[in-house]
Amino acid sequence: MKNICILLSGSGTNLQNIFENIKDGKIQNAKINLVIADRECFALERAKNLGLKSILIKRGKSFTEELLNAIPENTDLIVLAGFLSILNKEIFNKIYVPIINIHPALLPKFGGKGMWGNNVHNAVLENNETESGATVHFVTQEVDEGEIILQKSFKLIEDETTETLAEKVHKIEYEIFPKAIQQILNSEK
Ligand code: GRF
Repeated sequence: MKNICILLSGSGTNLQNIFENIKDGKIQNAKINLVIADRECFALERAKNLGLKSILIKRGKSFTEELLNAIPENTDLIVLAGFLSILNKEIFNKIYVPIINIHPALLPKFGGKGMWGNNVHNAVLENNETESGATVHFVTQEVDEGEIILQKSFKLIEDETTETLAEKVHKIEYEIFPKAIQQILNSEK
């Protein structure tokens, strides 16, 4: 059984989707061993409702240390599912399991600091892009620059808005995130 530790900051719909994919056997031989939030957020309530163990580690001086202490030793994969903190370099020196993230655009476009939530969709619209999508990638010290694991795109329609984009991207996330997780778990011994 592989253990997945999920870090998040927001509403947690991807957490719920991962949970359901495990339950339905679409992600096999895995369980969520801990949910960690860096702020009060609805995802904590969601985790509780799903019967998942969860903790809140607020950002501050000892954030990295507390995070390192909290991540269970039996963790095989760390999944950032809407996690808004940037991981400190110490994390990468001390954690040897893969860390993956989902980004609501087609990286390497529209990534990096400040590119989160609707900022991303607004930038896509302002740039008159003809397509958008979502990307699952490995997390490295360079924000949103790690190797891409899976990506899926769709064509924008003429009167696309921030809201319609956000909804379409979320749908794609629910499709590719579980697939990418299974792929990474399969590739680990
Ligand atoms: C997703 O759009 C993801 O791409 C981004 O944060 C959002 C999280 O959404 N990193 P949710 O909290 O899972 O609904």
